[in-house]
Amino acid sequence: MTTKKTKQKPKLVVANWKMAPESAKDGIKIIATFNKAKAAKGTYVGWCPPAVQLPVLKAKFRAAEFGVQDVSAEAAGAHTGQISAAQAKAAGAGFSIVGHSERRAAGESDALVARKVKAVLAAGMQVLLCVGERERDAGGRYLRDLAGQIAASLDGVDPKAAKMVAVAYEPVWAIGAGKSAIGPVELLETSRFVRKTLREVLGAAVGDKTYILYGGSVDAGNAASLLAGGEVDGFLVGRASLDPYAFAAIVKACA
Ligand code: PGA
Repeated sequence: MTTKKTKQKPKLVVANWKMAPESAKDGIKIIATFNKAKAAKGTYVGWCPPAVQLPVLKAKFRAAEFGVQDVSAEAAGAHTGQISAAQAKAAGAGFSIVGHSERRAAGESDALVARKVKAVLAAGMQVLLCVGERERDAGGRYLRDLAGQIAASLDGVDPKAAKMVAVAYEPVWAIGAGKSAIGPVELLETSRFVRKTLREVLGAAVGDKTYILYGGSVDAGNAASLLAGGEVDGFLVGRASLDPYAFAAIVKACA
């Protein structure tokens, strides 16, 4: 521990709107209301709307940073319904969430997630890689699984390119309506473990700098304590990111 003040890197807060809102018009209202709160000073904010709404939102809010919630692992070809990383980039996305637990629950393996990570990097975009355990066991076995998930999801990724990767630690048991977030003490333990694993997988130089976000029931009431106690570099926010006032409060807690 040192008491000397070190210059902190800006925090990063990403909104994951999932399959809401219904129209781009509703999305415009959310971002416009958020912007009025002037919460983002000194904090990076990213928005992941539904991909079909992205071009409209990007045209309206040129200065804002947008991402997509998922991409295809394929660069091109006959893949009905999928969107390539290059298409996402052309539509205005600077980054993509990859490996969200809701995608993993729909059948995505670590191997597919690793291919997607590489597809996003190849398109010159940043990656927000989601990892997290389904449940915790008292024996700490989940930590081994978490380390395995991180290593397998980053398999074959060039450590130099990995500078473009941020990690969101999202315990599946804490995500979604009616769940409660992790406590700061548990978060600290786990974020340190994720940091240690990233140093092992990517090397100390990159692993020390990788952004580690927390996601899972983050709201205006718990953001400050999770940030102060959890040693994370920001948040990935689902539900509360659709409420511009709650999202602004979360971003303000990161200043
Ligand atoms: P939540 O979702 O904030 O609604 O728990 C987080 C996520 O799924 O990224």
